[in-house]
Amino acid sequence: MFITCWSVKGGVGTTVVAAALAVGRARTAASGVLLVDLAGDQPHALGMAEPVGPGVAEWSSAGSAVPPDALARLRTEVSPGLAVLHRGRGPIDPTRAEVLASVLAREPVEVIVDAGRLDVAPAGVTVGAALAGAADRSLLVIRPCQLGLFRARHLPVQPDAVVVVREPARVLGRGDVEQVVGVRAIAELAVDPAVARAVDAGLLASRLPRSFAAAVEQIR
Ligand SMILES: Nc1ncnc2c1ncn2[C@@H]1O[C@H](COP(=O)(O)OP(=O)(O)O)[C@@H](O)[C@H]1O
Ligand SMILES: [Mg+2]
Repeated sequence: MFITCWSVKGGVGTTVVAAALAVGRARTAASGVLLVDLAGDQPHALGMAEPVGPGVAEWSSAGSAVPPDALARLRTEVSPGLAVLHRGRGPIDPTRAEVLASVLAREPVEVIVDAGRLDVAPAGVTVGAALAGAADRSLLVIRPCQLGLFRARHLPVQPDAVVVVREPARVLGRGDVEQVVGVRAIAELAVDPAVARAVDAGLLASRLPRSFAAAVEQIR
């Protein structure tokens, strides 16, 4: 399975959803899980040390001189069965997007991509959008708020499903998102203080709050 999580607005919980998906699946997937961090925030969500050394950005700028499987050597193990392919520094060369997508699509492990906020650059598709297009599941992570729904009217790529992150006492909800985007909500997750505390304590990978983990399991 190859899943790309993305958003149209920062701060909605995309990184946390991708992290929780990866942590949850690493517990059950016999093959293991590779979490590809295109946005660069996963170390902060997972409470791991900031990886040093080259990542996706350096691999991309090295061009075709570097074999695609060199990516396999850039992984950092977070916990048993869970590795992160970190972003690295500098821009990710969009001309390497298709190669990256095909390497990830051939992975024997489950692949979860945190593509962050997607904007299609005027010159063409971004790397995150290419990985959303190549994935088995392209998931838009969205909070039902006015700006989120406004941006959802003109999406850079079409998602297969949405993951709704719901704040209490909001008037807008899952139905509004489904109506605007035109795809179903595969899961509805709560903004949960236990999740925020786990992130702040660096404990999301080891102590994923149980109710959040159960809600994330709906994502298949
Ligand atoms: N379900 C949640 N419940 C509580 N806090 C959350 C939840 N999801 C994310 N957060 C917090 O909200 C902030 C933004 O989350 P993040 O996943 O980094 O958003 P994004 O990747 O969309 O920018 C972080 O401080 C994170 O800890
Ligand atoms: Mg993020």
